[in-house]
Amino acid sequence: MTALCLLFISLSFALITAESSVYFREQFEDGDAWKSRWLESTHKSDYGKFVLSAGKFYGDAEKDKGLQTSQDAHFYAISSRFEDFSNKDQPLVIQFTVKHEQGIDCGGGYIKLFPSDLKQEEMNGDSTYNIMFGPDICGPGTKKVHVIFNYKGKNHLINKDIRCKDDEYSHLYTLVVNPDNTYEVKIDNKKVESGSLEDDWDFLPPKKIKDPDAKKPEDWDEREKIGDPDDKKPEDWDKPETIPDPDAKKPDDWDEEMDGEWEPPMVTNPDYKGEWKPKQIDNPAYKGKWVHPEIDNPEYTPDSEIYKYSSIGVIGLDLWQVKSGTIFDNFLITNDPKLAEEVGNESWGATKDAEKKMKDSQEEEERKKREEEDKKRSEEAKDEADEEDKDEEDEDEEDEEEEDEEDGEEEGTDSKLKDEL
Ligand SMILES: *[C@@H]1O[C@H](CO)[C@@H](O)[C@H](O)[C@H]1NC(C)=O
Repeated sequence: MTALCLLFISLSFALITAESSVYFREQFEDGDAWKSRWLESTHKSDYGKFVLSAGKFYGDAEKDKGLQTSQDAHFYAISSRFEDFSNKDQPLVIQFTVKHEQGIDCGGGYIKLFPSDLKQEEMNGDSTYNIMFGPDICGPGTKKVHVIFNYKGKNHLINKDIRCKDDEYSHLYTLVVNPDNTYEVKIDNKKVESGSLEDDWDFLPPKKIKDPDAKKPEDWDEREKIGDPDDKKPEDWDKPETIPDPDAKKPDDWDEEMDGEWEPPMVTNPDYKGEWKPKQIDNPAYKGKWVHPEIDNPEYTPDSEIYKYSSIGVIGLDLWQVKSGTIFDNFLITNDPKLAEEVGNESWGATKDAEKKMKDSQEEEERKKREEEDKKRSEEAKDEADEEDKDEEDEDEEDEEEEDEEDGEEEGTDSKLKDEL
């Protein structure tokens, strides 16, 4: 084989591997047409409704439309199908945006990726999935990004803590799973976690275990220090802890017959030295800490294809929300991390600043409105107070008049009496 031929082969190989596939993309930019692509599960009769909305604030009224949860305290279950594929020998990239514009208290913001044999109308919390990925918030205690893989029929949670965003803006979540069994999690196109699947999940039993046949020898001395055997307790060490108070005197009016025999109160003995301990010296027999020898775990079998799913065909939102209002948008499933980054830049990246600006100006307006209302309310309160003061003054005057009248009557009777006398 000639060098040129080799070069050609490697070039075309590079071209083939560089080819990118988009397995699924959903931007919700064609009105109600999404309803033909997404199917609500009927497993329960009271799933919450998803509506198409860009929300209360957005960067672009059309582009930022996505699926919004619209009913508080509901389960949601909706999914969309695409052509079945396997991520064998290729990266798998899952990406979407989540916007908790309602100020979420407790609720899921994650997606699930299912094998294509999922019955969409039956999808529910127990449906077998391949991957669950995305933010989950519940109170101040739970604010994490889930990365759960189904491996040989069992779901495995990541053993690292990845914090999710908990503000009210749109955020881009990306998971990259590579065929070399490594992964990367990105938020807003920035890496927040990465590593190896084998290390960060407990898919496989540990490579090494403690040798069950190894035992610490009986005479293994782990004491670094010992009491000096040559050290002896001084003869005069032992003294009572308390003694009769030498300064106490029997009171003059003590009556032995009435009060019994007088005894001085007990006080702490200043000569008491506590328990005697020999001085500590280096233990000449010290052997160091015994380390349990390890052996290869017979249960461990390496797996170079932990990352691999033979069938991926449905993406779903299967979650619970207390306070609704979350908007999901810009779904992308591809084998090309670079493309995903670009798409993220062009969608989330292009509207995020305008979204923040709109929210800021709404908040500014609300603040002004509140201030004006407060001002109006305090002016009204002042006017009312003035009115009340006036009323009180009038009442005072009336009271005084009444008193005058009463006085007059009395006077009248007096004068009447006088006249009669
Ligand atoms: C995405 O945007 C960031 C920030 O502007 C930039 O650094 C990065 O190169 C962009 N990525 C792609 C693939 O365009």
